[in-house]
Amino acid sequence: MVKKLEYTFKSLYSEIGGQETIDQLVNAFYPRVYDDPELAPLFEGDMEEIKRKQRMFLPQFLGGPALYSQEFGPPAMRDRHLPFEVTPRRAQCWLRCMREAFQEIGLDQNPAGRAFYDRLTQVAGIMVNTPDSE
Ligand code: HEM
Repeated sequence: MVKKLEYTFKSLYSEIGGQETIDQLVNAFYPRVYDDPELAPLFEGDMEEIKRKQRMFLPQFLGGPALYSQEFGPPAMRDRHLPFEVTPRRAQCWLRCMREAFQEIGLDQNPAGRAFYDRLTQVAGIMVNTPDSE
């Protein structure tokens, strides 16, 4: 009898604990962003609205349900960030807030969480659209 090989590919989304983990992360992240002196000038909108968008975007980014696109269409994240001056320094601040949020909820201890953070590092670099002022 030939043994059938079955592979299961789990998405990073399910590996990290799905929507519940994303919600915790978003709640830990945005208060830090709004408190950061480099980032705060860019975030003049309602924190609840950006949290809502990110709760929909990150599942899709990790191979889970495409909640963001169902409501807003193609992610086109670089284009959506063009109205804001995203400098290399601001990208570092954004990533530092994210790293602290990962630590707060223990996601830095999870191998899939580390893969998630690596992907955010890459995408943050792509979002940069303005040089540092000095
Ligand atoms: C690199 C540094 C980054 C900066 C400084 C930054 C800044 C911003 C700002 C100012 C907004 C608009 C906030 C508002 O509407 O009030 C925004 C929206 C958003 N950002 Fe970023 N961002 C960065 C990186 C990222 C990355 C890496 C991701 C995803 C992996 C991301 C995902 C989003 C999403 C989903 C939105 C909502 C877009 C929408 O309006 O539909 N951002 N970001």
